[in-house]
Amino acid sequence: MSRIAYVNGRYVPHRLAGVHVEDRGYQFADGVYEVIAVEGGRLIDLAPHLRRLARSLAALSIAPPMSEAALRHVLAEVVRRNRVRRGIAYLQVTRGVAPRSHGFPEGIKPSLVVTARATPAAARAGIAEGCAVVTVPDIRWKRCDIKSVALLPNVLAKQQARDAGAFEAVQVDADGFVTEGSAANVWIVTGDGVLVTRAADHAILDGVTRRAVMALAAEAGMKSEERPFTVAEAKDAAEVFLTGTTALVTPVIRIDGDPVGDGKPGPFARRLLAAYGARDAAAGEAR
Ligand code: PDD
Repeated sequence: MSRIAYVNGRYVPHRLAGVHVEDRGYQFADGVYEVIAVEGGRLIDLAPHLRRLARSLAALSIAPPMSEAALRHVLAEVVRRNRVRRGIAYLQVTRGVAPRSHGFPEGIKPSLVVTARATPAAARAGIAEGCAVVTVPDIRWKRCDIKSVALLPNVLAKQQARDAGAFEAVQVDADGFVTEGSAANVWIVTGDGVLVTRAADHAILDGVTRRAVMALAAEAGMKSEERPFTVAEAKDAAEVFLTGTTALVTPVIRIDGDPVGDGKPGPFARRLLAAYGARDAAAGEAR
């Protein structure tokens, strides 16, 4: 089946989908995005994703490309036309197309692109086995709370992880505190069984999955705290895990080559992954 993308008002074959060479997303990374999980053909946690999109757009003074109702329709339509049952929808809004000049151009329309694709079953199944991470210096800007398409430091960090035979890079600030992964938030579980993740300041993206897992942890009677933690604390922790739309709840079993705990996915991460999967499955089936 051929894939379909939405580009600025039209549903087009994916292989022909493109924006202008002077799109400011292309030239300046002047845009924002969201990645939304699809389960049972339905968009999961759409409301918080759209809230975060609105916040990112406002932070950059980019006008919403259309009403929220219209955006919901386009997202659902792209998922439907691509027959995605389990996968992701990708949405990107840039400031638009204009002759190259750094300041905001006047009177241009934002560009909107939406795509969707299925997640291979094997990728999903592999999450429970856990992953290795490496630590890297966080070289990003001071507004990582904005979900900007300017992802070059994240791209370099992820590649550094790959080159080291790991799955994800854990970024570390100048004071030795963990900020987040290249595309996921980071959590530890202390020896006393308390979940810890950094508070959602300007140094990290406030993950939708992070919020969902916080709620699931509270429902399960787990204690959680929002505070910074160091790499040393993570290496000594009972468990470490990642959360994100694509990571779900991924146990971390090695940091910089050293095993976390006994080097196997721990009970907290396994339980939260199961609870998260059950929640998404229920949302995917809800009518
Ligand atoms: N990334 N931190 C960063 C830097 C991210 O890029 C992401 C998500 C997260 C987790 O956010 P959420 O739970 O809302 O997905 C945290 C997406 C999946 C991506 O860039 O592909």
